[in-house]
Amino acid sequence: MSLPRQVTILQILQSFQSLRGLRAPLPDRKVGTRLGGGSMVLVGGLIVLGAAGAVAGGLWARHAAAQSEGETTREAVNPQRPSRHFRIERPADLTGPDALVIYNRILDDMVAAYRLSGFDFAESYRRWRRFNTVPYRSAQHGERYVNNYGNAAAAAYRHFEDAGKMPPGAILAKDSFAVTRRGDVFTGPLFVMEKLPPGSSPQSHDWRYTMIMPDGSLFGMTGGEGTERVQFCAECHKVAGDENDDLFFVPPEYRIRFFD
Ligand code: HEC
Repeated sequence: MSLPRQVTILQILQSFQSLRGLRAPLPDRKVGTRLGGGSMVLVGGLIVLGAAGAVAGGLWARHAAAQSEGETTREAVNPQRPSRHFRIERPADLTGPDALVIYNRILDDMVAAYRLSGFDFAESYRRWRRFNTVPYRSAQHGERYVNNYGNAAAAAYRHFEDAGKMPPGAILAKDSFAVTRRGDVFTGPLFVMEKLPPGSSPQSHDWRYTMIMPDGSLFGMTGGEGTERVQFCAECHKVAGDENDDLFFVPPEYRIRFFD
């Protein structure tokens, strides 16, 4: 191994910096010491030191990452605190794919919290069919990004306006998250419509409306606990009309086209 005569200490240090993946620039000042053949021992020593530094740096980075992941998870399932997960840049112009990436990242935590409500649908919904391509912002549900899912009995929902009347047992679930202007990401409530047996609730076309908070607590369920808090759901959905069975469906630009 022979080193070119012009190699400086600065260049050697720089190569160690890039080995360790550090991006902080070194001071732009040449050390100026030239290395001749006699400095090989010094170079060897520096290489050993650099390698040890790289290993230690890697271990430290992994430890730090594991720690922050653990914190995120703890925060998300703590019912006492809203689940803030992480911050994103440029929240104002979230593209559909960006929204989907964020959603996929927080979904486990969202479901872990919703399921504390004890309702089957609060956990099983994520395995149902999703009818939207990417999360879209819903003005009617607090400007949150939402997704629409339906269970097997609600399969006809995929025909949207041609779906007809949903059968008893059909359940539609809409989960949600919010991104603030500063870029903080919060999980939102789970909105659910369940079709009850005929005659159960004539004033709402037999739909039961339920809202589960992001911490898994029940905000309200029509005809049950907190019914007065969720009457507004039924009132707005009635506007969709008899012919649509009180359903509004996914905005056209976000609909998945099914071929079955
Ligand atoms: C101001 C009107 C309005 C209110 C209030 C409202 N929704 Fe909706 N809902 C909509 C609209 C519009 C859609 C379809 C587009 C969208 O997702 O924004 C929808 C879609 C849904 C869907 C998917 C089924 C469908 O209609 O296509 C569910 C489930 C749902 N809402 C549940 C609820 C629940 C539960 C509440 C109350 C906590 C509620 N909504 C309050 C307007 C409303």
